[in-house]
Formats: sequence, C-alpha cells, structure tokens
Amino acid sequence: MTKKRLWITRRLSDATLERASRDYDVVINHADLPGTAEQLIAASAEFDAIIPCHSEHFSAEVVAQFAPRLKIVANHSVGVDHCDLPALKGRGIAVTNTPDVLSDATAELAMLLMLGAARHAVAGDRIVRTGGWDSWSPAFMVGKQVTGARLGIIGMGRVGRAFAAKARGFDMEIHYYNRSELPPGQAQGATYHATVESLLGVADFLSLHCPATPDTTDLMNADRFALLPEGAVIVNTARGALVDEDALLDALAKGQIAAAGLDCFKTEPGGNPAFADHDNIFMLPHIGSATRKTRDAMGFRALDNLDAFFAGKTPGDLL
Ligand code: DGY
Repeated sequence: MTKKRLWITRRLSDATLERASRDYDVVINHADLPGTAEQLIAASAEFDAIIPCHSEHFSAEVVAQFAPRLKIVANHSVGVDHCDLPALKGRGIAVTNTPDVLSDATAELAMLLMLGAARHAVAGDRIVRTGGWDSWSPAFMVGKQVTGARLGIIGMGRVGRAFAAKARGFDMEIHYYNRSELPPGQAQGATYHATVESLLGVADFLSLHCPATPDTTDLMNADRFALLPEGAVIVNTARGALVDEDALLDALAKGQIAAAGLDCFKTEPGGNPAFADHDNIFMLPHIGSATRKTRDAMGFRALDNLDAFFAGKTPGDLL
C-alpha cells in the first residue's frame, strides 16, 4: 500500500521522526523554522497530513486557500489556539492534539517558576554569577514562602490538576476556578470558586492553566490584578494571551503582585522587552513541555492519532 504523505513542520524528537519515516512518506523540516502561511497552503496540495506545532498558524484566511488533498492536522501540542477549528472542520479536515502526555512536564515548570519567582531566582543568580555578592544580611533577598500558602488555579484540567498534585507536596491550600466543579475524586479536597473574582481574593499564588480562547483573552487584566491579595505571585505556563502585560507591569509597580513567573508571552518568540528590567519577573522561553520523555510522548501521540485516522478509526484526540 502506498504510504500517506506527511509533512512534519518542525524538528520533533528523534524517536518520533524515526517512527514517522518508517510509516509515512514523510518530509521533515530539518531547518526547523516555523511554517509560513505560504508553506502551509502549498503543503495542503502535496500532503495528506501535517504534524504542526503551535508555531504554525492555521488561520481562517490560510485554511480558505487550502487544496483538497490535506485530510488531517495532527497537532504536536495540547493547545490549539493556533488553529481556526471551525475553518478547518468546515474544510472537512480532521484536527487532533496531544493532551495528557505533557501535563507533568508543564506542571514541573510551573513549580519551578512559582518557586523561582517567590525566592528571587533572577536577582540571586545574577548577583552570584556576576561577582556582585559581597555581603549577607538576614534582610537580604527575603522572599515569599510557598509552603502552606494559598494557591489559586485557573483551569483545573489535566495540567491544572497535575500542578495541584505537586503543590500538595508543599502543603499548599488549593483553590480553583473552572468552568464546572470537579467531582471529589479529581478535586482532591481543592476548594471550588464559581467565579474568577472569588478565586483571586484568596490567591497568594495564582497559576494559569486554561486555554487561550476569545473568552480568556486578557483574563488577567487591571481589574482582576487588583483583586489579588497584596504581594501575590502569578505564574503563567498556559498562553501569553491570558495576561494583559501592561496591567501586569502596573500591578508589579504598585506592589499588588510581588513577582511573576512566565513561560508564555503575548509575542512569541521574543517575549516582552519591557519585562527585562524587572528582576521580579522570572522568565523562560515557552519550554513547559520540553523534556525528552514528553517530547517523545507528544510525537508518538500525534502519530497514534494519524495512524488511527488513516486506518479509518476515530483518532483518540479528535477535536
Ligand atoms: C502545547 O502543547 O500547547 C505547548 O504549549 C507546546 O506547544
């Protein structure tokens, strides 16, 4: 049987590329640059399937120009805000993602950001690294203790719950906002808040784990920052779109929030240059899921979805 033609837009893990090359007539973007609109449109005429990352943008305008050959977009990401789902579905193109397998890696990174933001990781690292550490005092770099503090989680899906599980190891008191209340087996004693506003009032630490949608754009705006307890710490490993970055800077300037730990930014790659002057913003370049184990698992999950689709079955992660 002729193999289906597959375009892999970025440099996925070696194990993923090996399996893909075995099972598909695959073209791999070894240059590892984000696929442009022109490339996506051209690919729709040459390939039956694409495995993209969140770096490729399937806007309605791009999808409208697709040729009929392309049958499935099997994302190598859990987030699909880079895909106009109605437009893709309207063209009869199946779309899948890779949930579950990146929850622990992302939750680990959220923990790193929370601890680093709370304990002056940026300033502390810099002062030692640059030879500027010339004194010590009990008043030096005093941070905010995580153990036993109240943690607010917005979005108690898989990643939010994985983060809650890790935070329980720090004896944190867990509160959450979610579209619906979780069954007790999933909530594991976490307190449900029916509104974001109610949650913010108790969030000494706040971690965002909801998808970016038109409804969640600038979810954390000036009004909502003002509801946090003074000196709160905010962590974002979800999407940059969730945070009004000017409002975040303003909240930091006012002391409303003490620190932020960010893996996601409105502009990616690149981030927000205005953040660079603030040692109380601990930043990483969107690497929440970037562990070897998770990259393999994401690649295999995307391939599992493709295999199912071309075998005439419903892919496990069909959106
Ligand atoms: C995801 O899977 O959505 C991560 O942000 C990496 O793309």
